Formats: sequence, structure tokens, C-alpha cells
Amino acid sequence: MTTNLCRISGTLLTKVLDFGKQPLGNGFLEAKYFKDEYFFPMEIGYSEISMMFQLIEQPAPEKMFHDHYAFYSSTSNFMAQHFKQFAHQVIQSGYLTKESPFVIELGCNDGIMLKNFAEKNIRHLGIEPSLNVAQEANKHGVHTRCEFFSEELAEIIVREEGQADAFLAANVMCHIPDIVGVVKGIKKLIKPTGVVVFEDPYLGDVIAKTSYDQIYDEHVFLFSALSIQYLFGLQGMELIDVLPQKTHGGSMRYVLAHQGAYPVKDSVTQLIAKERTQGLDRLSTFETFRTNVQKSRENLVRLLNDLKAQGKKVAGYGATSKSTTILNYCGIGPDLIEYISDTTPIKQGKFTPGMHIPVVPYETFKSNPPDYAVLFAWNHAEEIMAKEKEFMAAGGKWIVHVPEVKVF
Ligand code: TYD
Repeated sequence: MTTNLCRISGTLLTKVLDFGKQPLGNGFLEAKYFKDEYFFPMEIGYSEISMMFQLIEQPAPEKMFHDHYAFYSSTSNFMAQHFKQFAHQVIQSGYLTKESPFVIELGCNDGIMLKNFAEKNIRHLGIEPSLNVAQEANKHGVHTRCEFFSEELAEIIVREEGQADAFLAANVMCHIPDIVGVVKGIKKLIKPTGVVVFEDPYLGDVIAKTSYDQIYDEHVFLFSALSIQYLFGLQGMELIDVLPQKTHGGSMRYVLAHQGAYPVKDSVTQLIAKERTQGLDRLSTFETFRTNVQKSRENLVRLLNDLKAQGKKVAGYGATSKSTTILNYCGIGPDLIEYISDTTPIKQGKFTPGMHIPVVPYETFKSNPPDYAVLFAWNHAEEIMAKEKEFMAAGGKWIVHVPEVKVF
């Protein structure tokens, strides 16, 4: 769908970035599908009214989240640990009622977070539109409905299962174009004392680190506390707490409730002030960001061309969705990056969207290591550095593009 209007405020969007034609970030494909590959014009709009950073056009959700969606949350141990902590913080937060609490998670994927509630016999419900991962969740004892969330579904759930104490989501809300409809649904779905706790990649980090690879088809929005406060405020809900997270290269967890249900924590006031200082409330910030993104592209392409001229072997590490934006925006193909190694079986043997770099199993990286590895999974740097000591000891070098293009 193309819109020149802000999905939140309905006012005109100003175009701040243009990435040209892009394929689906997670659209890893076999060679036989190259000729039918789907591309869309990836442009970013911003509204100073809602302060929401958003894609102007987004492919239909059915194209992105389907029965062969190539993303299983549980492939990363670090993420499994992260969601366990998320669940335990919710359980200990005091927001759940003592008597038979009910927790809902939107986009529960393979049950990575909800299984922590299931293990404690806490009544829960997962809502997940991708059938393959929803089946996986049910297999793990996580009660899951395979559906897209909407206001109508919220009404059905309230009728069938009652209102929830907590409505959770991780890396999901920013995927939903009809976010206003979702917030309306959430408002009906949670109890008067209920809370919404969700996290997504944080716009403040994207701007500060020039991590433009967070922009791809699935991320229709990149949120800030300012835009979340505006969005939920329209439905009479209030931002009561914010908790910065390290995941996805910098995320923010937002806690919201019905207006006046809880006091607003100082963390909210402080973050809002910080965002105004950073300029997340004005257009000019995104003009500077555009220049930084262009410089980042020039530096990465120059580096890879230099390495090629020196006869160095360069591979990628982690076939992330994020890498799709970098590769296609910078025009980096198999001539510059020989392969990308990834531990996810469903991606192996396929090619990266658009630029068609082969995705190979991790064993290839071990048996045929490059001189330089582009760390596309830079958000997992800590975990990866801990396990790749051998690569580095043997003289292997990393290339990363955030916060600036560098070799280390
Ligand atoms: P992810 O962090 O989910 O990024 P995105 O949201 O941009 O897709 O993806 C990480 C990818 O990196 C995933 O495909 C698994 C892969 N990976 C490895 O191959 N090795 C590793 O050690 C780690 C941590 C991830």
C-alpha cells in the first residue's frame, strides 16, 4: 500500500529517504525464483505531527508473513535468554493480578517468550500469523491462534477468554501498518489495570548509529517514545515507563496503560527530553541522517572494492533481514562478498534477496574462512565475538558499518 499520509495523524508525510527498489528483507530464495522476485520502492516518510518515522509503501503483509516465513526466534541463545528475562520482569512487575492472570503476546513466533509463562502455568495466548512458527509454538505447549490481530479479533478474544492483564509484543508492533487499529484493539483487550509491554528497534539508536539497515519492508515504523506517546495518547492511553534494551542493536521497551491507571515514571520524562534534544521531533534531523546514510554507503563500497583489488577473500556473517537493505542499497553482490554464512537451516542453500549472494551453512565459514567477514549480524556482536576467537586468532578481520564503517 502506498500512502502519502501519515498512518497515525492522517497528515501529509514528508519524504526523507529513498532507497530505490528493494526486495523483501527476509525473502531468501532459490535460484529458480529469481525471475519472479518481488521488489518495491522503499522510501521513508516523516510527520512532525505524529513524529512517526514510517515507510511510504509497504508490501502486503501476506507477502512477508506466510507459511514459509524464514525467521525462527529461537535460533539465537542470546535472544532466548533475553525473552526469558522479559517474561520474568513482567511476572515480577506487580502489574499482573494475583488471581489467574492472563497474558497475551502478539506475534509470539515459535513461543520463545510465552513458553516462560506456560512453564509457570500462567494462562496465556499467542497470536501469530505465520503458520509454520505458530505450529512450532503449539508444539512447545504455547497456546497459539494463527491469525492477524485486529480490533475484531480483540473483541472475539474478550468474549471467549476475557480481558488480559498484560499484552506483550517484541519486534512486532513496528511491523503493523494498521497500528491505529491495533491500539484500538489493545485498548479493548486489556483490563482497567492492564498494561501493554512491547519493544522494538529504537529510532534514537538508528539515528545515532546510522544503522539504516533497520529499515526494510517489515519495519513499517521505527518508534520513539515521542511517537508512541502520540499514538497511544489518541486512544486515551499513557506511556508509563521506558526501558532501553541492547537487542537488535538498540531497542526500547515501552510500558503503557489506560490514562491515569498508574503514575508516569521519571524514565519517561527523561527519555522524552533526550529525544527532543536529539531532534527526533523535527524534520531537519532526518535530512542529516540521509547524508550520513549516503556517506556510510560510499565508505563501505570503497572498502570492499579496495579489498577486492588486493585479492582478499570477503564473506558475510549472518544472513540478516537487515543485510538486505545494505546489499541492495550499496549494490553489493557475489563479486564483492563470496558467500554469507548463517546457522538457520531454512536460509542455507538459498540466495540473498535482490543481490543473490549464496547463503551457506556455518560449517563453510569454519572450513573455508575469509580474510574479512562483514558482520551483518552486528546486533549479536557480543555472542559472535565470544565464539569466533579462532577466526580472529588466525588473522581473520571483521567489517562493520555501525556506528561507522570500520575494520577490526
Ligand atoms: P537477526 O538478529 O534476527 O536479524 P534480522 O532481524 O535483521 O534478520 O538475525 C540474525 C541472523 O544471524 C540469523 O539468521 C541467524 C544468524 N546468526 C548466525 O549465523 N550466527 C550467529 O552466531 C548468530 C548469533 C546469528
